Amino acid sequence: MTTSLSAALAFARESQPRYLVELIEFVSIASVSTDPQAKPEIQRAAQWVASQLRSIGMNNVQILPTAGHPVVYGENLKAGPKKPVVLIYGHYDVQPAEPLELWHSPAFAPQQRGENLYGRGASDMKGQVMVTLKAVEALLQAGDLPVNLKWLIEGEEEIGSPHLEKFIMDNKELLACDFAINPDSGMVALDMPTITYGLRGLAYFELRVSGPAHDLHSGMFGGSVHNPAQALCELIAGMHDREGRITLPGFYDRVRTLDQAERRELARLPINDSFYLEQTGAPALYGEANYSTVERVGGRPTLEVNGLLSGFTGEGTKTVLPAHAMAKISMRLVPDQDPYEVERQLRRYLEEHAPGTIRWELLLHSASPASISNIQLPAVTALAQALEDTWGKPPIYKREGGSVPVVAQMQSILGIESVITGFGLPDDNLHAPNEKLHLPTYFKGIEVFIRYLDLLGS
Ligand code: BES
Ligand code: MN
Repeated sequence: MTTSLSAALAFARESQPRYLVELIEFVSIASVSTDPQAKPEIQRAAQWVASQLRSIGMNNVQILPTAGHPVVYGENLKAGPKKPVVLIYGHYDVQPAEPLELWHSPAFAPQQRGENLYGRGASDMKGQVMVTLKAVEALLQAGDLPVNLKWLIEGEEEIGSPHLEKFIMDNKELLACDFAINPDSGMVALDMPTITYGLRGLAYFELRVSGPAHDLHSGMFGGSVHNPAQALCELIAGMHDREGRITLPGFYDRVRTLDQAERRELARLPINDSFYLEQTGAPALYGEANYSTVERVGGRPTLEVNGLLSGFTGEGTKTVLPAHAMAKISMRLVPDQDPYEVERQLRRYLEEHAPGTIRWELLLHSASPASISNIQLPAVTALAQALEDTWGKPPIYKREGGSVPVVAQMQSILGIESVITGFGLPDDNLHAPNEKLHLPTYFKGIEVFIRYLDLLGS
């Protein structure tokens, strides 16, 4: 081990108490990207990240506007032309914290209980952003940076990165690099370091159904018109068959088949049906026939109802025939599906199946394709080495069911690969109440990135 590597690791260990304090500061900012009321908090989070970048020794730090929330940029290119240029990606936005009453401590007043820090965004992904910031800080405290670094920390990932594609196109020069590090992922289990090589895409819709001009007395008018809530449920019910397959014509045409070798690899992952039963708490698993749960999550597309709204849902009863019904529907996509093509398929399904007794309207909220990353690259081998040096065992390679739109955007616009890892755990409650980050894993993650950047420079 070089003296500067051991000095950086020692600095990071001594700094753990401060690394926790700073993480708490970051997680305290309610930067909910989907909430128009949260604009000031979004600004505050962007400024917080910019000041972190400056304080750890980055240059040319800027908060760059987009048509949505700003991107934070920074760089340190002092390692010289012989060293790689590595772009570190992150997002400072978070999902909404609702339902608030289910949190045991307030979502934006992070609380440490045992080995965990509870707060919205602690794991997804403010903790992961901090891991990279603090690793670079430690390396710079101990000597020169082993590689050239650029940072792109965005504020719209949790709403599908709708303005990032244009930002990347407009800033190709600024963002030019050899590859990206993307820590917006997690581990399959505690003590199982993980490299993610596939992410699903996402197409997110809102389907609005209406019938009568206004709510009706369900006794005076029940039997006279088609209830929009019922019609919406009928439409949704028709989107899957009895085998759990999606019925939209053409939906599977572009789905890349999982080859036997990959199915064998996925079968070796230490996640089985009892893992999913335990994590979800559901009475039984469900999904497309003829695929294992791991395959369905990582390598097959899905269609999900994210939310339903109609009629009277308060306490007690109200006899009403609602005028409107609405569903939020999303599809997780796999290579080589096109989010705009599945939009056309859903529209065609609605045109063919929606009865003349109702009106409907379909909105597309976000669209991003899936990505598969090359794991043969030296940058991936070096990460595997850094993970093994830290955990004492080699990483597992996994296809993730979640989505991170920037990965495909960087592949197509910048022509670069992303190396994807992260230190979240399956029980971190991402997007749910009581999100948390496992602090010992957070500190280990910092060590991983110190070792990884050091390896990349040699
Ligand atoms: N970090 C997650 C994606 C993720 C989750 C990766 C778990 C690996 C393990 C990311 O921030 C996220 O939640 N993305 C959204 C994206 C969407 C709004 C386009 C998602 O997947 O729902
Ligand atoms: Mn994330």
